[in-house]
Parts: sequence; structure tokens; C-alpha cells
Amino acid sequence: RTVYVNGEYLPETEAKISIFDRGFLMADGVYEVTSVIGGKLVDFEGHSARLQRSLNELDMANPVTMDELLAIHRALIEKNQLDEGGIYLQITRGAPADRDFAFPDPDETPSSLVLFTQVKNLVNALAAQKGIKVISIDDLRWTRRDIKTVQLLYPSMGKMMAAKAGADDAWMVEDGKVTEGTSNNAYIVKGGKIITRKLSNDILAGITRAAVLRLAKEAQMVVEERSFSIEEAQEADEAFVTSATTFVFPVVEIDGKAIGSGEVGSVASRLREIYIEESL
Ligand code: PDD
Repeated sequence: RTVYVNGEYLPETEAKISIFDRGFLMADGVYEVTSVIGGKLVDFEGHSARLQRSLNELDMANPVTMDELLAIHRALIEKNQLDEGGIYLQITRGAPADRDFAFPDPDETPSSLVLFTQVKNLVNALAAQKGIKVISIDDLRWTRRDIKTVQLLYPSMGKMMAAKAGADDAWMVEDGKVTEGTSNNAYIVKGGKIITRKLSNDILAGITRAAVLRLAKEAQMVVEERSFSIEEAQEADEAFVTSATTFVFPVVEIDGKAIGSGEVGSVASRLREIYIEESL
């Protein structure tokens, strides 16, 4: 693979970042994952807008312009002949001379920028046909989940807890209500209504979420943005998740209880279809 690191395109084995980089020492960094179908980026605009917002919230500088970022994405697709998968982008607060809790002076310590491609079956993902099983876990993350930071230890632990329980993913719960999945937004469907938590600092504003809710409304489906509990989800007709790496995955089981018929639901399938249709 050819990857991008701080202005250079290099074989992945030659790309290097300092051990003093604050991304490495302090998880002081933000990221984006943009999906690629048929060699084309899906909603780069949405991802770059959210990236800019994450950077602003953390008072971090983008070392390049958004136009340059788009050019780097396209160059990596080209260099790696990427047809389907994603591009991972990470900006960290760079490598100061030594470890220190205070932010370094941005004029002396420029942020680091890294991008790489990942091959993945998105359109024909197996989980889209079978649905996924989720467990519920407490949401023990910090409370600025609206910023897409690289602090992913708890979501990783959540995935491991799910695997140990024979499930595919975990839905996180705070004050009795589901916040989101470890790396996706969570939804239920009841009486034809699509229910998902409203945007706030409690969850990440998914780019796929925005597109799916827009498409749902365009298809005359009713969307209700409010919180729901695991108990309500278990009694729902359907459940599903969205993200750049899953698009729409049906959820067929929550904490061991089958959702609806226990089969992939028709609303989730339809949303997946129209989302992919639009993204092609
Ligand atoms: N995760 N919520 C969380 C906590 C996420 O990490 C993600 C994305 C989403 C969905 O956002 P989007 O639709 O913009 O992908 C929601 C990415 C895919 C990841 O960490 O790999």
C-alpha cells in the first residue's frame, strides 16, 4: 500500500511518525473514515465539514487546505487502485520537543497528517444480509463524543465484550438510554417510525446518519429524533445501525432477544438500498 504522511506518499513500511507525536502519547488527534465505492468518495463534503468542526473544537490546525485534502484522497485511491473500501485520515497535534500536557505552540509544532486506504466489501457485506447481534454496555466514554477523536480504547473494549458474548457489536447506554454503537449510530423502527437519538455532545453526528435521515424523509418515512432504552429497542419492530463502514446494517438481536421476527427488517433493507443507490 502507498500511504500519505506529512506531505509524502510512501510505501506503508517506510512511513514514520515521531514517538513524541501527541496522537501517540495523548490520543490528541481527530480522524475521519470516508467510504469509497467504485473508486469514488462517498460524501467527502460531509466528512470534511465534520473534520473542520472537530479541529475547531480542539483548537487544532489542519496542516493542509480542504482542497488539498480532497486531492490527497483522490491520489491515494489512484495509487492503490482502490475500488471499494475506505480512506482513513488522521490529524494529530504533532510532535513537540518533549512530552507536556499543555498544547505546544502551533507555529513551532505543526500538526501531523496521515492517510491510508483500506479495502473492504461495503455493498455486498455479509452482515447486511444476516443482520448483526448487539449487546448493551454502559457508556463509559468522555462526554464530548461529538468530536471524532482517536480516543477509541473504550469502543475497542466494547467490541471485545461483544465478541466474548457471541455478539457483533455493543450499544452503549447512559442514564437508561442508548447513546450509540461502538462505531455507528443506533436506530429502532416502531409502527413504521424511525427513531434515533437527537444530536448533542452525547453522540457523534454521523455523516451516514444525516444522509439516511434525509433519504428516509424524502421517501415519506417518519423520523423521530429522541432517545430510547434497551427495553424499548427489544420491543421494536426493527433495529439498525449506520456508519461509513457499514452503511446500514440491520440489528436482529439485542442482549439475546430477537428483534421483531428476528429476521432482517424491511425498513432497514430499504434504507440500505436507497443509500447505496444514491452513493453509487
Ligand atoms: N465510526 N458513532 C461513532 C462513535 C462512530 O465512531 C461512527 C463512525 C459513527 C458513524 O459516523 P459516520 O456515519 O460518519 O461514519 C457514529 C467510523 C466509521 C470508525 O470509527 O471507523
